[in-house]
Amino acid sequence: MADRVIISVRDLRVWFPVRRTFVDAVLRGGSGRFLRAVDGVSFDLRPGEILGLAGESGCGKSTLAMTLLGLNRPTAGRVEFLGEDLTTWIATKPDTFRRSAQLVFQDPYESLNPRFTVGQTVEEPLVIHGLDDATGRRRCAAETLELAGLTPARQFLPLYPHQLSGGQRQRIALARAVVLRPRFLVTDEPVSMLDVSVRAGILRLLKSFARDLGVAILYISHDLSTMRHISDRIAVMYLGRIVELAAADAIVSRPRHPYTQALMASVPIPDPARRRVPPRIDGSIPSPIGEFAGCAFASRCPHVMDVCRHTVPALRPVGAGHAAACHLHDVTPAEAGISKGETNDPVVQR
Ligand SMILES: Nc1ncnc2c1ncn2[C@@H]1O[C@H](COP(=O)(O)OP(=O)(O)OP(=O)(O)O)[C@@H](O)[C@H]1O
Ligand SMILES: [Mg+2]
Repeated sequence: MADRVIISVRDLRVWFPVRRTFVDAVLRGGSGRFLRAVDGVSFDLRPGEILGLAGESGCGKSTLAMTLLGLNRPTAGRVEFLGEDLTTWIATKPDTFRRSAQLVFQDPYESLNPRFTVGQTVEEPLVIHGLDDATGRRRCAAETLELAGLTPARQFLPLYPHQLSGGQRQRIALARAVVLRPRFLVTDEPVSMLDVSVRAGILRLLKSFARDLGVAILYISHDLSTMRHISDRIAVMYLGRIVELAAADAIVSRPRHPYTQALMASVPIPDPARRRVPPRIDGSIPSPIGEFAGCAFASRCPHVMDVCRHTVPALRPVGAGHAAACHLHDVTPAEAGISKGETNDPVVQR
């Protein structure tokens, strides 16, 4: 039970139909086109694990997260929550699922109701789900505030959001998210609106939730420099696909995909001896509408080869627990340094 997979995602696709103009329909005919926001994503998330999800704006991070929370319908593929199909959860036990999977918004200034005190805010999920009596709810809210580092809780319970700093508000939002003791938490850019000086505290808090409550966290961000400190593993997305997945240290110290290498090169490294020369990425992110004949990164890749233009690279092992989707690594497991008997399924490893 302790190591039971919380979320298991296999070949998940979330495509949005693109509305065609009348002229388009007449000129091109055929079936409609799709924006492939998520296009064949697989990974597992275990209790207490923090998986960082990185990638440029529009690559599908939030769409993936919303789908895992049951807020988008998958076009294809499978999502299992605690070993059971997500669609079954939503159809048969929606309340239990909603209690177990929570989302923290980016903006702590917008996400809290200005008319609710801290106590009412943190207690509200318990009220909505009809849990406990008033005394029990108040005790649970106070305990959770203390867990969120707002001590002594009794001083915070009667305050309103306008009386709190940005960091304190985000702590309230996090306390509210874990008051029901969820198994799965999505945080979408949780510190990007906060002052740099309070970010580290919020990241430490998320880590303590993972460690002490065993909650599995999907941590979404553009910012690899903070993500590397909080994540156990990092998945890098590019146009709907995971192009690299590995332990955070491996992504930082030995990125294997040219796109990850470019992202990492933009992360400041204090030690001048370890600074890298950023590889050049030309051009902008292509349109996600329609299907790519080959690698979606080919048009910007400094190492592009012929094969990249006509064959989509699969996400495959390039080292123990390290996977990349790049034709530069079309090698055997032995060549990739994976010894016999070592499990090399990057989706499952942590
Ligand atoms: N409901 C929707 N209908 C149509 N297209 C959508 C919908 N939601 C998202 N998209 C498109 O899917 C793609 C992925 O969007 P998404 O919001 O998941 O990206 P993101 O990685 O979270 O970006 P950001 O870093 O800016 O938050 C984008 O091209 C977006 O325009
Ligand atoms: Mg987003």
